[in-house]
Amino acid sequence: MTATNHPILSAPANLFERGKLGRYELPTRVIMAPMTRMRAHRNGVPSEMMVTYYSQRSTAALIVSEATTVSAQGIGYLNAPGLYNAEQLEGWMRITSAVHQRGGRIFLQLFHAGRISHSSLQPGRSLPVAPSAIRPKGHVFTPEGNVPCETPRALNRAEIHRIVGEFRNAAVLAIAAGFDGVEVHAANGYLLDQFLRNGTNHREDEYGGSAENRARLVLEIARVVASVVGSDCTGVRLSPLHAFNDMSDSAPEVTFATVVAALNDLRLAYLHVVERDDAPAAGPRFEIGMLRQIWKSAYIANENYDRTRADVAIARGVDFVSFGKLFIANPDLPFRLENNAPLNPPDRDSFYGGDERGYIDYPPLDRRSSLSCE
Ligand SMILES: Cc1cc2nc3c(=O)[nH]c(=O)nc-3n(C[C@H](O)[C@H](O)[C@H](O)COP(=O)(O)O)c2cc1C
Repeated sequence: MTATNHPILSAPANLFERGKLGRYELPTRVIMAPMTRMRAHRNGVPSEMMVTYYSQRSTAALIVSEATTVSAQGIGYLNAPGLYNAEQLEGWMRITSAVHQRGGRIFLQLFHAGRISHSSLQPGRSLPVAPSAIRPKGHVFTPEGNVPCETPRALNRAEIHRIVGEFRNAAVLAIAAGFDGVEVHAANGYLLDQFLRNGTNHREDEYGGSAENRARLVLEIARVVASVVGSDCTGVRLSPLHAFNDMSDSAPEVTFATVVAALNDLRLAYLHVVERDDAPAAGPRFEIGMLRQIWKSAYIANENYDRTRADVAIARGVDFVSFGKLFIANPDLPFRLENNAPLNPPDRDSFYGGDERGYIDYPPLDRRSSLSCE
């Protein structure tokens, strides 16, 4: 079959058309995925090199920031940023203003790491918290090196309500810091995902048991964030089949159809789906495209996209595509994708932590020489 008579490949590619995402009319469909790079100061205050990093990437239609913790208890990674005090607020203001000066837009990704933490990172060396006291297989980076995860302490109801309040508070600070919106991180095995999936949530109260109950915390937090920043400036990220951080669910189709249908009622700006499927070969799974059918507003697809796959996805009904590793290595990624220009390869050794190397020293393309040879 040739490209011209293939029903999908012959559709016009529109990764570079304008697209509506909540309140915003974005210039393209190329979004920068959230990525923890562990270059903040130890107290969670964004550093100067973070200002450079984000402003270098401001040609993304939208930047989603790295996961940013709503409280000291929410910390999961050394040198990851927070947004719960005045110093952190000031640091983020420098970043949003640099991105805006270059014509970009930036949402803050808010999270609480839950059980993916360690007592050595916690205030008063307390145990990390989770929906249930279930120890994850795996390791955590701590000041003492890479150590096995501990068995977390199950949260009580009052503490869950306090965490909802912390997300609210961080959303207020996000607006004060100049962010264009907030993404609620309910993916990749952190606290909200731990509540969603039944491998990690064995609670017997209204936050556990049925899929509706397990979705309750995500909904409460999305609602409270939307009430502060506006529903048309709020998104939610999910990763239904991602096993990262020792996650599992016995019926993911039911869990995620339930939470996505319920989120529709909040009329949020977007749903951001990490499509990675690394659930055990014989384990339960579903066709992830089903979520696009359920979800009523903008849908952002993520995981391992390149220009060709992104165009196909958009022709099939995805609204935006987010790119992670390609944005690490290519600060001018939209320009390169649009012009089919060569891409810098990412250096994995400098993904997490370190200095400017592998962070703000990836060269942009020399536009004149790269285009003159075409
Ligand atoms: C260095 C690194 C850090 C990441 N940190 C986050 C994060 O803070 N929040 C999040 O939701 N996903 C995070 N992710 C996942 C990415 O957003 C994205 O889902 C993943 O890289 C797959 O997209 P890609 O194939 O385009 O890179 C991270 C990925 C990488 C490589």
